[in-house]
Amino acid sequence: MARSKVTVVGAGNVGATCAHWIASREIADVVLIDILDGVAKGKALDLAEAAPVMKFDLKMTGGSDYALTANSDVVVITAGVPRKKDPVTGQFPSRDDLVRTNQKIVGDVAREVAKYSPNAILIIVSNPLDAMCHVALHETGFPANRVIGQAGALDTARYKAFLAEALNVSVRDIHGIVLGGHGDEMVPLPRHTSVAGIPVRELLPEDKLQAIIERTRKGGGEIVGLVGVSAWYAPAAGTVEMVEAIIRDQKRVIPSAVLLSGQYGYDGLFVGVPVVLGKDGVEKIIEMELNDEEKAMLEKSANAVKSVVGVLGY
Ligand code: NAI
Ligand code: 2OP
Repeated sequence: MARSKVTVVGAGNVGATCAHWIASREIADVVLIDILDGVAKGKALDLAEAAPVMKFDLKMTGGSDYALTANSDVVVITAGVPRKKDPVTGQFPSRDDLVRTNQKIVGDVAREVAKYSPNAILIIVSNPLDAMCHVALHETGFPANRVIGQAGALDTARYKAFLAEALNVSVRDIHGIVLGGHGDEMVPLPRHTSVAGIPVRELLPEDKLQAIIERTRKGGGEIVGLVGVSAWYAPAAGTVEMVEAIIRDQKRVIPSAVLLSGQYGYDGLFVGVPVVLGKDGVEKIIEMELNDEEKAMLEKSANAVKSVVGVLGY
């Protein structure tokens, strides 16, 4: 049986780390593409040279030529400009400030990808994530089940990591979910959070829980503040979780940015909600029952996404 093929566009921090983890879990052959030909070629070669030690047995190639990507099953788009701290002022731009620059980059990339892999499932990572999903959908004309944004996997991972640390329990036993757009208005759901089935509110005082929710919302900024540039390990981990779910047809339930057509009261907007991911991409959108407070938070988050999407001019 032919091995699956995953292309990762953007061989920077997030893209190269995705390639690393896709390889180390032997999920698929990997093609790493970047506008910087030598960087993509060199990082793919470096990873291939690690294979005899790490014992992953798959093909790693790289470069700037999209012909390499032909017939990919999944394409991850990380090409773009990340948030960087201004060395003088110490300020860093919001994700939304990146919209115009990354719209051009993601648009160009999406068209090339669609030319060579018309049946691929796209996972969009470039920020502002929710708006970039609209760009990829618009430029490729792909059906909505094949254009998926990665953010919920990362935001949920951060939420779980902070809870596990506060409770001093294994991350494996934390169950929870974060909905909404990938911004400061994202919606962690404590009512649906448990530790091995025990409601989190039975284990953690409300003030500590609220502090964790706030830290999750600002999780991206916390790393930028420390490192000077945005995160890559956890973002790549979230992305590879989605890639694996699709390639291995795992039917995983992972919060992802998907185009809603009436669900949760939204139409024609990418919003982070729980979905089933399998070989056909988004196989089902799960509609959770939200209370009034949760609905209001989701609305605030969706409105923030809407205002960025408005900038795209579609
Ligand atoms: P990076 O700067 O390390 O890598 C970006 C790469 O894209 C560079 O190697 C650059 O040469 C390449 N690139 C630029 N224009 C290109 C083009 N037209 N074609 C092909 N490659 C091109 O940035 P990093 O940290 O990897 O972040 C990438 C993107 O992902 C950023 O937009 C960042 O904000 C976003 N991000 C999104 C997250 C999410 O959860 N959705 C989390 C972390 C980052
Ligand atoms: C993050 O949340 C910057 O979106 C990126 O780390």
